[in-house]
Amino acid sequence: MKTARLTARDIVAMKREGRRIAALTAYDYTSARMIDAAGVPVILIGDTLGMVVQGEDTTLPVTLDQVIYHSRMVSRGSQRAVLIGDMPFMTYQISPEEALRNAARLLTEGKVGAVKVEGGTEVAPTVERMVKAGIPVCGHLGFTPQSAHTLGGPRIQAREPAAAMALIADAKALESAGAFAVVLELVPDMVAEAITRRTSIPTIGIGSGPRCDGEIQVFHDLFGLYTDFQPVHTRRYLNVAEQISTAARHYVDDVSARKFPGPDQTRDLNTESAEAFGSLLKSA
Ligand code: KIV
Repeated sequence: MKTARLTARDIVAMKREGRRIAALTAYDYTSARMIDAAGVPVILIGDTLGMVVQGEDTTLPVTLDQVIYHSRMVSRGSQRAVLIGDMPFMTYQISPEEALRNAARLLTEGKVGAVKVEGGTEVAPTVERMVKAGIPVCGHLGFTPQSAHTLGGPRIQAREPAAAMALIADAKALESAGAFAVVLELVPDMVAEAITRRTSIPTIGIGSGPRCDGEIQVFHDLFGLYTDFQPVHTRRYLNVAEQISTAARHYVDDVSARKFPGPDQTRDLNTESAEAFGSLLKSA
């Protein structure tokens, strides 16, 4: 039986009802299937796919077509989670019209139920246009990876009181513009808590302490698939990369020693066909 898919409204209701939101990224059918079946209510097709799938240094080279491509796979693999498609660098900053066109492609071609944009007050008018056009939007404040060159790499943001107040103003601007949630990345715990208390929309933290309304993590970090580096804010629930490397070595050994494939993986002709084939081979 087909499960009804959650929507952005359900995620807002989770905050109202005091239910915490455990969000995760996914980039393909197989991983989406697993985390959707596990009950993850929000799946982000993040532009972190640039790093963990494509091996790039930053999220900047990721294109809209690529996020659409991965979103479609995640959409096929999931039934219940609300899907958020990340809007890549420069797909929403140039003009609200371009942002609308690009966000619409994520919904219609990528089959997501919402989009995510980075930035606060400066993107609020664009967020408002998208929301009014029927596109649920999630904001992203604090360390915003598309501005890594300006911010100087992943580090805690809003450490000064004035910067913390500005971040609260950004969150309020997103809320007023109609955003349904906001990701807080690398924000001090006290600042994240203040934003969480002062907004009606869910705050989804990453490296922002336990007092947000929810948490988001990158699939490859959480399950130990991406080993180039481990962000301090992640917790490895599995060490899949290690297990795969060990298993791959066993596979190489087995193939080299002619232990794989074995009888269980082998099918042959039936006796009659084998005899006939044997005779043909002899006379060939
Ligand atoms: O692209 C992404 O995966 C993200 C999360 C880290 C929040 O933006």
